[in-house]
Amino acid sequence: MHTRLLHNDPQGLATAAALLRAGGLVAFGTETVYGLGADAGNDTAVAAIYTAKGRPGINPLISHFASADAAFEQVEATPLARRLADRFWPGPLTMVLPRGTHCGISTIATAGLPTAAVRVPAGQTTQALLAACGFPVVAPSANPSGRVSPSDAQHVLAGLDGRIDAVLDCGPCRVGVESTIIDLSRDVPVLLRPGGITLEALEAACGMKLALPAGSNDARPTAPGQLSSHYAPGLPVRLDARSVTPDEALLAFGPPLPGSALVWNLSATGDLHEAAARLFAGLRFLDMEGHRRGLVGIAVQPVPGHGLGRAIRDRLIRAACPRP
Ligand code: TXA
Ligand code: MG
Repeated sequence: MHTRLLHNDPQGLATAAALLRAGGLVAFGTETVYGLGADAGNDTAVAAIYTAKGRPGINPLISHFASADAAFEQVEATPLARRLADRFWPGPLTMVLPRGTHCGISTIATAGLPTAAVRVPAGQTTQALLAACGFPVVAPSANPSGRVSPSDAQHVLAGLDGRIDAVLDCGPCRVGVESTIIDLSRDVPVLLRPGGITLEALEAACGMKLALPAGSNDARPTAPGQLSSHYAPGLPVRLDARSVTPDEALLAFGPPLPGSALVWNLSATGDLHEAAARLFAGLRFLDMEGHRRGLVGIAVQPVPGHGLGRAIRDRLIRAACPRP
């Protein structure tokens, strides 16, 4: 299959929407990362996403909508869900809610669960694309399963060229880490994945502490063995490095440690927003260039676990997990 690179203009948008309507797979940028889109109501198209990514069928997908009203036609909104939508949409928040009685999202996309994950992404082109489609668009991150998420169109092509119909070039992603996922389908809200909306902001909006699933989302790398390997570059990743050797690449945060000739600084000034936006591009660059130079691994300087740092640390911990 030939993968087309579509430009961010009216013709590119129209082609992307037409391909999606016809059951094709089209990657597009959101404010978080690039997603691999398909018509959420088309079983065949949804199944093709799993094949293109090599994604296990038990891992459900997020449905994307142009508006909160469109999202809440598919799922059962609670008062808290409506409040969070008012506060954070469009933006990097995903809510897991019970499927509505008239839910048109493919059961393949929700992996047979009674719930569905929904979000309204920000970004002019993303919004224009979803509005042009007029149907929900499922979109996992547009990378082969388990690998580093894409934050620009070239990253998508590097992983999926020849396996999808097109990529709509929406430029680099502003936030750089995936959406925060909150499960509102249980008695108490649970944070399923830290992301672009901070836990602090979410708890303030909820007016309560959120439950964290055991082990997985803690800011400390307690038991990496319990975590699934994800966001994995080819070179091994070493966290919270206090020193670096000449045969390692360095992912720096703040003033870089001396000793490595290959450095990507997430943020020289220690700014967590800048660090999130530069995270996945940095992992890709150090992996590719480190491999070319025969380096043995990537050392990562400590990143604080508050605010956006929680999402950054979560991705780094998974990137450092031993591969299955
Ligand atoms: O920022 C994002 O969320 C990006 C952009 C493209 O929107 N998408 C993304 O999708 O990160 P993906 O597939 O890489 O991650 C989706 C996560 C998975 O961990 C999945 O298990 C979870 O959402 N999820 C989806 N539906 C769920 C459900 N019904 N219950 C619990 N978790 C669900
Ligand atoms: Mg992903």
